[in-house]
Amino acid sequence: MPQNRTPLRYPGGKQKLTPFVLEIIQANGLEGGHYAEPYAGGAGVAMELLVEGHVKHVHLNDSSYHIYCFWHSCINYPSEFCSKISRSLLNVDEWKEHREILRHPERHSVLEVGFATFYLNRTNRSGVLGGGVIGGIEQQGAWKIDARFPRNELISRIELIASLKKSITVCNLDAEKFFLDHVPKLPSKTLVYCDPPYFEKADRLYLNHYKADDHERIARIIQNLSNVKWMVSYDGVDQILSYYQSRRKFLYELQYNASRAYKGNEVFIFADDLVIPRKSKLPYIAKALELNTNHLHRFGSD
Ligand SMILES: C[S@@+](CC[C@H](N)C(=O)[O-])C[C@H]1O[C@@H](n2cnc3c(N)ncnc32)[C@H](O)[C@@H]1O
Repeated sequence: MPQNRTPLRYPGGKQKLTPFVLEIIQANGLEGGHYAEPYAGGAGVAMELLVEGHVKHVHLNDSSYHIYCFWHSCINYPSEFCSKISRSLLNVDEWKEHREILRHPERHSVLEVGFATFYLNRTNRSGVLGGGVIGGIEQQGAWKIDARFPRNELISRIELIASLKKSITVCNLDAEKFFLDHVPKLPSKTLVYCDPPYFEKADRLYLNHYKADDHERIARIIQNLSNVKWMVSYDGVDQILSYYQSRRKFLYELQYNASRAYKGNEVFIFADDLVIPRKSKLPYIAKALELNTNHLHRFGSD
């Protein structure tokens, strides 16, 4: 199991898909190029690709100011950030102070907001910023507030990321603006991996989310990107499949279990000019590729 490179926990985080994203990068000659995530969140895929040297520059965008403050302070103030990790108390009073910072970010520095985002991400149930503290306010649960806060490991991850600062661009734009203003400036040797909030149930998970019209508009914008290669992942609901009906796509299941009947609930969608590998070392992706082979390779393959 590869080590997590991102310091953030993310519900629906895609880092376990990194081997497949790398297979796409290799099949399209994009190694050593740029890699962009318009909906970066915990950016687990981006961090692994960068740390392992598969891409030379990553562009992380997220419209959440909290998430932006985290990434900005992680790469620009790593020593202050890491000393906060070492010094902060892991108790409910401190958790409440950080929660207050996130409620009034305009009264605090980027570093304070970035650290509060990180603190709540590591001490809340499932990493959801609006969720409750692990173990409950009374700390009576089996797991306590410190269950997901391995200080030394988190410090190492942040120091490693900060050492790659020159290879990381952080933006705090609405994705639509990122697609229209930032992506056109990227070199042609770029993969843009879009992982928008899910169509269903996103409001439970993230502080920002789209309505159906927004998903449809974004689908049009993404399908018009022409200077870069792109791919999208989503929950595999009918509306999303219809917005991308002419594109190659496959359904897969993250929690794939060989002993159960195959039924995918997530979807990957691809730009027409992207070569899709025929095999994957991830079993649930390999299965989906096998089931969809005729449809996926109508434009070409490696
Ligand atoms: C599905 S999560 C991305 C998870 C990420 N792929 C990972 O592995 O951690 C979606 C992200 O999109 C961000 N987001 C929501 N609406 C957005 C918008 N309009 N523009 C840019 N980012 C947005 C959310 O803040 C959230 O971090």
